[in-house]
Parts: sequence; structure tokens; C-alpha cells
Amino acid sequence: MSDLSFRYARQADATAIVDLIERAYRSPDTAGAWTSEAHLLTGPRTSLEEISGLISREDTRFVVADREGRIAGCCLVQGLSPEGVASADGKSAYEDSFGIPGHRGMNPARPVNAAYFGMFAIDPGGHGGGLGKIMIAEAEKRVRELWAANQMVMTVINLRTALIEWYQRRGYRLTGATLPFPFSDTTGETTRDFHLVEMRKDLA
Ligand SMILES: CC(C)(COP(=O)(O)OP(=O)(O)OC[C@H]1O[C@@H](n2cnc3c(N)ncnc32)[C@H](O)[C@@H]1OP(=O)(O)O)[C@@H](O)C(=O)NCCC(=O)NCCS
Repeated sequence: MSDLSFRYARQADATAIVDLIERAYRSPDTAGAWTSEAHLLTGPRTSLEEISGLISREDTRFVVADREGRIAGCCLVQGLSPEGVASADGKSAYEDSFGIPGHRGMNPARPVNAAYFGMFAIDPGGHGGGLGKIMIAEAEKRVRELWAANQMVMTVINLRTALIEWYQRRGYRLTGATLPFPFSDTTGETTRDFHLVEMRKDLA
């Protein structure tokens, strides 16, 4: 892991982030690998417009892993409304974005202040090299610093069992909550027989 550093993305990084996400998630080059969703979805995963918008939002950050001036990995983190602190329309940010409540407290003595984790991508040339594990630990550290988050929440396609197990080995648990996959004209799905499952981890 020589010359590896982490920073927040700037607008100038948007094109490189789009390129990395497209190559990591659905590229024909990695199809068939446990890391790929190309067997389920063939359309674009994101767009320059979406990534630029997320970089400029107040409540989101892209954490990027920089290796010798090149982006080797990225993930999105988003601060959500703490339990009991809803926005003007009565919904948390996660609820706004994904339609399910941002807080899912298990312990009433410990109010939940969750952060969302997504758009996690490691350069396919480096898959299996350990950067994913380092990157998710860095994201967990940063959401604690940024928003005093005490929980991380994400959604994963239910059929990606190897990925779900990878997150479970990092301390994430399936909450039992499910939500529909957001199919659209550009998703390019090969089947509609899947959905998203929610995973959460309490942060120290
Ligand atoms: C998922 C992803 C972020 C992991 O990053 P990575 O740098 O490749 O992961 P690491 O090198 O840290 O870990 C490699 C893991 O792969 C596991 N692995 C290797 N070959 C495997 C296989 N054939 N099947 C299942 N797991 C395998 C290893 O056991 C290791 O996990 P462990 O340390 O818990 O045992 C990365 O592969 C990626 O960018 N995938 C595409 C985008 C994506 O799916 N993002 C997540 C969407 S929710």
C-alpha cells in the first residue's frame, strides 16, 4: 500500500470517479467475478451529472483513495438526520433518498445517528489487494469525525451473497429491511428478480 492517501473529492475528480465506478461495477472486463454485478445490470451505474451533484452537496462527501496521483478507490458517505431530528417534511435524508427511515434504533438508550455508505468502488486492477478493507475502515472513521455518526447504513443487492458475506466479515448485519431496486430506463437489467437489502454496523 505504498503512497496511499485518502482525501475528499473535488469537482475536478468527478470524471475519474464516474470512470472508476463504471469499470468496477458492471464492466464486461470483470463480469463473472464475485466483485461484479454485470450479470444483473448492464446499463450505466452513474453519470457525471450525478457525481458532480453529490460532490457539491453539503451532506455528502466522496472519500477517494489516492495512489501516486490516481484514484484507486472511492466511496460516498452521507450524514443522515439523527434519530428524532427529522427535516421540515418530517423525513430523514435517508428516507428522502431511499424511502425507508434513516434511523433504526435497536437500543433506546443509544440514539442512532447514522451515515449512509454507497458507490463503493476499488479499481478492478487492484481487487483482492486489501484496499477495500482499508477504505471502508477509513469511511467509518470519517463519518464519526464529520457527523459524530455512531452507525453506518447501506443497501446491497440481495443476490450478491459473496459481497454480503464480505460486509458481514467487516461487522455489518442484515437488518431484515428490504426495498425495491430502483430500475429505470438506463439500468439495463437482465432480470427483475432481485431487490435491495439493508445492512448496518454500530460504530464504536
Ligand atoms: C467489493 C469491493 C469494494 C472489495 O474491494 P477489494 O479491494 O477487492 O477487497 P479486499 O481486497 O479488501 O478484500 C478481498 C476479499 O475478497 C475475498 N475473495 C477473494 N476471492 C473471492 C471469491 N472468489 N469469492 C468471494 N470472496 C472472495 C477475500 O476473501 C477477501 O475477503 P476477506 O479478507 O474478508 O477474506 C471491490 O471488489 C469492488 O469495487 N467491487 C465492485 C463494486 C461493488 O460491488 N461495490 C459494492 C456495492 S454495495
